[in-house]
Amino acid sequence: MEKRSDQKVKRQMKLALFLTGDGNYHMAGWRLPGSTNDGGQNIQRWVEAAQAIERGKLHMLFIADAASPPGTDDLDTLSLTARIDRMDPIPILSAVSMVTKHVGLAATMSTTYLEPYNLARTVASLDHISGGRAAWNIVTGSNKDDALHFNREVHAPHSERYERAEEFVDVVRGIWDSYDDDAFARDKKSGVYMHPDKVHFLNHKGKHFQVRGPSAVPRSPQGHPVLIQAGSSEPGMNLSARVADIAFTSQSSLKGAKAFYDNVKSRCDRYGRSPDDMLVLPGALLFLGETEGEAQEKFDALNKLIPLRVAMQRLSANLGGVDLSKFDLDAPLPDIPVNNARVSAVESYIAISRRDGLTLRQMAMRSAAAKHHLTLVGSVKQVADELEAWFLEGAADGFNILPSDMPGAVNLLVDKLVPELQRRGLFHTEYEGKTLRENLGLARPADLSSRN
Ligand SMILES: Cc1cc2nc3c(=O)[nH]c(=O)nc-3n(C[C@H](O)[C@H](O)[C@H](O)COP(=O)(O)O)c2cc1C
Repeated sequence: MEKRSDQKVKRQMKLALFLTGDGNYHMAGWRLPGSTNDGGQNIQRWVEAAQAIERGKLHMLFIADAASPPGTDDLDTLSLTARIDRMDPIPILSAVSMVTKHVGLAATMSTTYLEPYNLARTVASLDHISGGRAAWNIVTGSNKDDALHFNREVHAPHSERYERAEEFVDVVRGIWDSYDDDAFARDKKSGVYMHPDKVHFLNHKGKHFQVRGPSAVPRSPQGHPVLIQAGSSEPGMNLSARVADIAFTSQSSLKGAKAFYDNVKSRCDRYGRSPDDMLVLPGALLFLGETEGEAQEKFDALNKLIPLRVAMQRLSANLGGVDLSKFDLDAPLPDIPVNNARVSAVESYIAISRRDGLTLRQMAMRSAAAKHHLTLVGSVKQVADELEAWFLEGAADGFNILPSDMPGAVNLLVDKLVPELQRRGLFHTEYEGKTLRENLGLARPADLSSRN
């Protein structure tokens, strides 16, 4: 373990910005006087966020997603939130790619409700459009209502979703390998546009998919766009260890985060990978102020803007759609059974509420601010100290930062926290390469001709 006082830190943090819905992560973020409230339909908000984080040299803009809003069975409560409207991440990131140069562009897309051939083509296209900055956050889908839009009545069981996800990812990677890097000659003189011997048919026939290939999209700048996996259950960790370049996770204590980090990385060996092939980035909501007191005061004021019924609806959704109405608000959070939509999330909510002695009401309010992610409220120095401890003690390779409100929290991050992390040698001061893989220090997978 490196000592915190070491001046020369070799390893540096990787930082992503986590955006969802309208961009304000905190449930009341949209209500602050200076914050945006139309990110669900205004591309300019996403452009501004991407340009701001590129100014701060952050590695990646990440968009979380679900195909539909959770909570439509209680529209009165849902109507008090900014969680109804959300645009599709791929068109957002395609637009953002045209006005940025360096920042990585990560879209969440579900393995449960899409087809791998389409997804492979779409994400490879984004990789071409952005000059090698695309990433795919592989999710099996945590919104059970999504099933209702895809010819089903219920969300498929957790284990079945992961079984499909495993095969899905293999097909996607196979389709990305449809062509060797130099398959397209486009030689006007000879008239040879493409070399037929550099084309690979996938001919996949599995339990869930039959996909012949080849793709309509040439191999993209990164070979394989960056793969992110965000499930933390047993099958989630195995999928990360086998395929992920980045494992996203939600952790609320250094000890728990370190255990997760060691656990998921120790599994890489089973799949012939090195633990260094995968970066672990926990989510973190950072609420910065000039002093701890000022930050806490502002955070408390923001929390007061969350209606209790909104907090309860969100907690219910975050626990996989569990009915919480029968429980006493001022008693400890009951032992919710782990359910199909959410496995690791339920375990983690229960652990937090037991550890911090939270009632159901308190847990709901906390969840409406930052779900079950690490939440740091304080001065720049205090927040930097804590991030540094997580990083140096081997609990994280960086962080996926949740902005409570847009653009306020993003500007504080870029203008105050990033310079502090850079001053400590914990964060880069320039992008190292052209592609997201290069900036993250991840190898580019070779094409099939070089692998055989
Ligand atoms: C940082 C982070 C981001 C996530 N983003 C999404 C998302 O955008 N959409 C989604 O359906 N699930 C998302 N998830 C949930 C997981 O990907 C996963 O599908 C869910 O937690 C169930 O898997 P598990 O039980 O293995 O954790 C996210 C989880 C984390 C930790």
